Amino acid sequence: MRIDIISTVPELLASPLSHSIMQRAQDKGLLSVEVHDLRPYGLGKHNSVDDYQFGGGAGMVMRCEPLAALIDELLAERAYDEIVYLTPDGERYAQRRANRLSLLDNLLFICGHYKGIDERIREEYVTLELSIGDYVLSGGELAAAVIVDSIGRLLPGVIGDETSALTDTFQDDLLAPPVYTRPAEWRGREVPEVLRGGDAGAIERWREAQAEARTATRRPDLLE
Ligand code: ADE
Repeated sequence: MRIDIISTVPELLASPLSHSIMQRAQDKGLLSVEVHDLRPYGLGKHNSVDDYQFGGGAGMVMRCEPLAALIDELLAERAYDEIVYLTPDGERYAQRRANRLSLLDNLLFICGHYKGIDERIREEYVTLELSIGDYVLSGGELAAAVIVDSIGRLLPGVIGDETSALTDTFQDDLLAPPVYTRPAEWRGREVPEVLRGGDAGAIERWREAQAEARTATRRPDLLE
């Protein structure tokens, strides 16, 4: 999978995408992420990428021309399955969308800043608008990093244990059951007996029951 990201603060994306599983996905050639700095496409001698909003009001808006120039350059190189704009008024991002995006080949993410991007860029290019939650970030970069991370780990071969991503929280609209490692007893707290026995069927049933109980108490909305 290839992911291009347009940003005015590319530094914000460097660290989250260059460690751990995201780095491994790129080292293995399963994921390629390119961050494109919008600033050189800015207008005038100050490379301006934003301007006052028509109609007045606080906050700047990202201008059409720099974004269009960079997007057109990228589109000349490849077609995108989705051009995604990160915005708090987008579709609420969840595992179902992550699963679907992980099946695609080419994605372009546009990170907004200030009051957002000029509406006409959304109309002209954007095919999908995503929000990572009902709160406002100072830019789309952290949202893009969250989404790229959640997609990248789903790509076949990225996570060592192939079945691991399938047993994650949310994959069956269920929260994951509790997990334990050694020691079997710590500060008087014991790992449940069933997990220490070798009965695979009993372990599976225990995990299912725990997942359902946990979901019912913590996230009943998932069971609806
Ligand atoms: N940009 C600012 N806030 C955001 C959010 N909650 N989700 C996605 N992009 C954003």
